[in-house]
Amino acid sequence: MNFKEELDKLDIFERVGKVADELGLETYVVGGYVRDLILKRPSKDIDFVCVGSGIVLAKKVAESFDHHVPLNVFKNFGTANIRLDDWEIEFVGARKESYRHDSRKPIVEDGTLQEDQERRDFTINAMAISVNSSNYGELIDPFDGLKDIKRKLIKTPTDPVLTFSDDPLRMMRAIRFASQLNFDIDPDTFDAIIHDAHRLQIVSGERIIDELNKIIAVEKPSYGFKLLFVSKLLHQFFPEMVELQGVDSVGDKSHKDNFYHTLQVLDNICQHTDDLWLRWSAIMHDIAKPATKRFHPKVGWTFHGHEDKGARMVPGIFRRLKLPMDERMKYVQKLVRLHLRPIALVSDKVTDSAVRRLLFDAGDDIDDLMTLCRADITSKNNNKVQRYLANFDKVEQKIVEVEEKDQVRNFQPPVSGEEIMSIFELQPSKIVGELKEEIKEAILEGQIKNNKDEALDLLYKLAARKGLQKK
Ligand code: CTP
Repeated sequence: MNFKEELDKLDIFERVGKVADELGLETYVVGGYVRDLILKRPSKDIDFVCVGSGIVLAKKVAESFDHHVPLNVFKNFGTANIRLDDWEIEFVGARKESYRHDSRKPIVEDGTLQEDQERRDFTINAMAISVNSSNYGELIDPFDGLKDIKRKLIKTPTDPVLTFSDDPLRMMRAIRFASQLNFDIDPDTFDAIIHDAHRLQIVSGERIIDELNKIIAVEKPSYGFKLLFVSKLLHQFFPEMVELQGVDSVGDKSHKDNFYHTLQVLDNICQHTDDLWLRWSAIMHDIAKPATKRFHPKVGWTFHGHEDKGARMVPGIFRRLKLPMDERMKYVQKLVRLHLRPIALVSDKVTDSAVRRLLFDAGDDIDDLMTLCRADITSKNNNKVQRYLANFDKVEQKIVEVEEKDQVRNFQPPVSGEEIMSIFELQPSKIVGELKEEIKEAILEGQIKNNKDEALDLLYKLAARKGLQKK
């Protein structure tokens, strides 16, 4: 790759180089931007490192524009950044101690470029390209990052034990980069992760979940989860998922390994959605199987109620993992709770009322629920899979028909509580709720249509039975 030509594609490199020359500062583009340039991955963050003060350089670069450029200075950390349109450009002085973008640790020691590169996380993240005019476009790659990109390898620049002790989150980052780039992890680096996995405990939950969500966002997240499992990093923050692993047998009766099943469901769903929370619902759908597992000599292994218990486990797991406790958590909870319902419809004769109830319970999330259920079919027997999918087609067809007819997807009671109170001059009371509930049940059961006339007719009948008089 001709790095000079690559840098020439954006004005910023020559500009920074010129300012750096004037200040007499050795300056380089470094880290993720260089890696992504080589991998031809789009990136909007550029990091510059100079041998001297990153803040002085950033200020001069900001001043070199003839329009105002916003500059943020973090004096304690020796960094500064500027924003140019949607580009985020950071400047830092080379340092001897470990580098971390999100670190709030003050920098104390200045270092050389090589010292700075050595304390970065991986060889592929430790490459620098000069922007000074004397060697503009020269790649400085003392740890053979370029070779590791070609070999598709995640490897620490120096002793992995030291690299990971500087920042144990890097163990998660190794697996995250391996997942995103489809790289292997160098055996010595991976051994160090296995050895030091327990040290992840000292890392904040927020930083861990950031990396985990990036693993979940890739095309095939099972790879990352398998590495997390084998290295025992997963055990440090998500024991419920670890519990899914394993097969129990009694005689010739065994159940499937729910960890690998869950990963298959996750990979399946990733082919149909980029939505993080739908992906999370795949991760969580069977989370209560270990807790509900029973063996019955006649029927074999059962997991009765795992969908309800799983839904109840969602808030606790979300809270601990620092995932949002808002409607996104409720959405995952709902999909976990409902994930068996469409399958139940497949095996029964599909009645309108069962479909109406499902539509009522799922609301606008019905399509996502069907996506989850389709992903949940992981039999090795392809005929079986095809048969199930064909049955799901029928259920979906039925859903469309019932929805057109009855519109219960976003059910609004055709007679409101206020109306009931005013017709019978009632105060807010239990009986008003009961009447509303009975009307809703009659609609879902198909005894009356979902419209005001039929709802009012029924209301009068029900009220008469309860001895209420119209006023
Ligand atoms: N870095 C590091 N150790 C960390 C975090 C970051 O050594 N724990 C270094 C790496 O050289 C990395 C650079 O800081 O390339 C920038 O970090 P960051 O922005 O977090 O990651 P990127 O590599 O840019 O990748 P991404 O944007 O995908 O997170």
